[in-house]
Amino acid sequence: MKFFIDTADVEAIAELNDLGMVDGVTTNPSIILKSGKNILDVTREICSIVSGPVSAEVVATTADDMIAEGRKLAQIASNITVKVPLTWDGLKACKVLSSEGKMVNVTLCFSANQALIAAKAGATFISPFVGRLDDINMDGMELIADIRQIYDNYGYDTQILAASVRTVNHVTQCALVGADVITAPPAVIKALASHPLTDKGLEQFMKDWAKTGQNIL
Ligand code: E4P
Repeated sequence: MKFFIDTADVEAIAELNDLGMVDGVTTNPSIILKSGKNILDVTREICSIVSGPVSAEVVATTADDMIAEGRKLAQIASNITVKVPLTWDGLKACKVLSSEGKMVNVTLCFSANQALIAAKAGATFISPFVGRLDDINMDGMELIADIRQIYDNYGYDTQILAASVRTVNHVTQCALVGADVITAPPAVIKALASHPLTDKGLEQFMKDWAKTGQNIL
């Protein structure tokens, strides 16, 4: 399963990238706001660090304007993925941009039918939002499993990019049901390495080692 990092925090991306943890990056207008930077500048900066797909989201609402924005964003670097919303206009933009050979990430997906229609429109990635479905007491993981089944039934090669992944349990569940990619904030990726028994075990080893009076170096 690929790890995309859901942030425009360049330092955090660079740290995880040095560890080989970054297969791509996703951003959205809220993430750009949080960065405090210009979308073109910060996206260019991210693309100078990461060689995998970097999603940059359009903000227009009509297909023609989305296509124009998508073309401009795609000029930033060859690994830009144009992110469009799952609206009828977004699907039109997806069809045109993907026909031009650009990677397209269709975002704000909350149903299996939306994922099906995005695949038919040529989406490279579909982004179902797990956490936001859980927020309203629906089952985000069931949606990922349903999309997996539908795409496999018909051989769609659109990649399932599980988004709004907010917990380490989401990551495990996405891996179990076969999401192609998860995108999560740096803190969630870092938390994957943690276990209380690791901390407890290490503490005991350090105490016992101190009692030996030995040094390795
Ligand atoms: C990524 O593509 C999404 O925009 C992001 O994962 C949304 O996450 P959130 O629901 O935690 O804001």
